[in-house]
Formats: sequence, C-alpha cells, structure tokens
Amino acid sequence: MPLRSVLRGVGKYLPGEPVSNDELAQRVDTSDAWITERTGIKQRYFAQPHESCAFMGAAAARAALSRAGIDAAQVDGIILATATPDQAFPATAVHVQAALGVHQGFAFDVAAACSGFIYGLSIADAMIRAGQAKTILLIGSEVYSRILNWQDRGTCVLFGDGAGAIVLTAETTDSGGPGVLSTHIHADGRLGDILYVDGAVGQPDKPGHLVMNGREVFRHAVAKLAGAVDEVLASNQLNYKDIDWLVPHQANRRIIDAIGKRLGLGAEQVVVTVDQHANTSAASIPLALAEAVEDGRIKPGHLVLMEALGGGLTWGSALVRM
Ligand code: COA
Repeated sequence: MPLRSVLRGVGKYLPGEPVSNDELAQRVDTSDAWITERTGIKQRYFAQPHESCAFMGAAAARAALSRAGIDAAQVDGIILATATPDQAFPATAVHVQAALGVHQGFAFDVAAACSGFIYGLSIADAMIRAGQAKTILLIGSEVYSRILNWQDRGTCVLFGDGAGAIVLTAETTDSGGPGVLSTHIHADGRLGDILYVDGAVGQPDKPGHLVMNGREVFRHAVAKLAGAVDEVLASNQLNYKDIDWLVPHQANRRIIDAIGKRLGLGAEQVVVTVDQHANTSAASIPLALAEAVEDGRIKPGHLVLMEALGGGLTWGSALVRM
C-alpha cells in the first residue's frame, strides 16, 4: 500500500473587519459596479497593525491542529507560503513555530507568490513520502495590504489579507484511500515583469509595491491553469467527471469560471470565496478549503482539484482525496 500525505485538518484566520467595495470607494477612485463586474469581489479583510503574517499564520495553524485533533508536540515541520513575510529572515515559519510552542523539526518559508500553497503542498508531500516527516503543518499567510499601491486603482482593489493552514500526516492507504494523489508545479521567469513587487527588504528606501499588467496576467492565467488541470488529471488517469470539487486560487471570478467551465463542473462544484476575501495570494486556497470543509460541502472521500497561478510567473495543480 502506498505511503501518502493525508489531509487531517484545515483552519483559517481572517483579520480585522470586512471592507466592502463601497467603503473602499471612499478612499480610492473606484466603484462597487466596476470591481464586481471585472472580478466578482465584494469585500476583503485588511490586517490591523498587530496582525502580522506570523500572527495570522499561527492562528490558522492552531485551528487546523484543533480540527485534526493533533497536538503541536507531534508536528515535525512547518512550511509557510507567503509573499509578505514579517522579515527577510528569520523565516515567518519559525515565528509560527515559536508561537505554537513547537520545539522540534524544521520550519521554512516558500516564496512562489499566489502559487505558494501548491508549491508548499508539493514539497510537504514529497518530504512525507520520502519518510522525512510524519506530520507537517502547511500554512499560507499574507498581508498584501502592506505592499499595495493605494494610488493604483487597477491593483489595490483586488487583494486582501488572511491565512489558511492544513495538517498533513503520513499514512499508508490503499489506492482509493485518502491523500495527495499528485502535485505539479511550474515557473517561467521570462514573465517576471507582468506581476511583481518593485522593491525589497534589501533595497534601500524602497519597501516595494505590487505592480501588475492585469490583461497579460489574465491571458496567461486562463491558458496555463487549463494546462495544469489537464496535467494533474492525465497523470492520475482520471477524467473531469471524477472531480467532486474545484478549489481554485481566488484571484478573479472570471478566471475561476473559465476553468470550472473547461472541467465541465457545475457552479455548485466550485468553491468560490473571492467575493468575500478578494485575492489573498498563498492563503486563498487553504482559506477556501477551510470554508467548504467547515460548512460540510467537502466531505471525506471527495476528490478535490486545486490550481493556482501567481507572480513569477509560477503555477501549478494538485489532486487530493479527502
Ligand atoms: N475602478 C474603476 N476603474 C478602473 C479600476 C478600478 N478599480 N481599475 C482600472 N480601471 C479603469 C482603467 O483606468 C481603464 O479605464 P480607461 O479605459 O478609461 O483607461 C479601464 O478601467 C479598463 O482598465 P483595464 O486595466 O484594461 O481593465 P481590465 O478589463 O483588464 O480589468 C483586471 C482589469 C485587473 C480586473 C483584469 O485585467 C484582471 O482580472 N486581470 C487578472 C488579474 C489577476 O487575477 N491577478 C492576480 C493573479 S494571481
């Protein structure tokens, strides 16, 4: 029987209070109609000063551990996907480790922008199957509000803050049993200039703001994500009809609908949270997963397809039996 990474618990944390499009329109030259029509976003959450990437990541991790019924003392490693770490180093993951009272194992961050959760899942799954860890906490945590350019209405209305986490454990299951079936990750650095942050901790007087060519990102997103979903199904000899749920990265309702349509899925099989959370980058998939598990839509035995694309460009897909 194969050794698999089984998803045992999922948790989330949303900071502050929701900020509606109308509220945002009081400080940015935009409107609820424009944002809703172009993106499907209705509101987002912005972190308060004390709600750092580590603070939110630790809160989501506690919720995931509690749902899994697993004690922090059993965690062998923490992988945290983020594009908005608290510091260049130490990694935000080690701050989460300290906050959770975990004193063993490893902790590191993954930087793959909005694809960070799929990249992290790929690493965690490989480590578990290689026997390097039995229990891994995988977290996506983001405070994009701190890198948004509030003078650029084409980007600042699209993003929000939040964190999501899952607990993965090593288990031997039969081929139809639960676990990560496969992950597929990609990057094309030639497209690094269509979605990026124009500064860094290492650059004096330039903390950096998000810059995006929205049209180009949209064009690549639909094509590359379509390829990624075909790839994950083909590699598992599965068909579109086998999928119970699509849990996509939540960037834009139009991109989500295009991929759902390609997979022949009904709207009721696609988990959508972009309307509530906006784009929370590496946190968006675990946040969406947490919502759908908590409200009982996603159940044990369901086959869940995840996909994401982000700055890099990076993109990828994963298939998980719950
Ligand atoms: N409110 C009102 N008007 C806005 C606006 C806002 N927040 N942002 C831009 N506009 C205006 C522009 O100024 C432009 O006006 P003009 O025609 O008078 O010059 C018009 O709306 C169209 O702008 P454009 O940028 O061409 O819009 P678009 O149709 O390409 O939609 C996005 C913009 C960002 C919604 C769209 O490109 C998109 O979804 N891209 C993918 C982004 C994404 O998912 N990124 C994350 C990937 S992880």
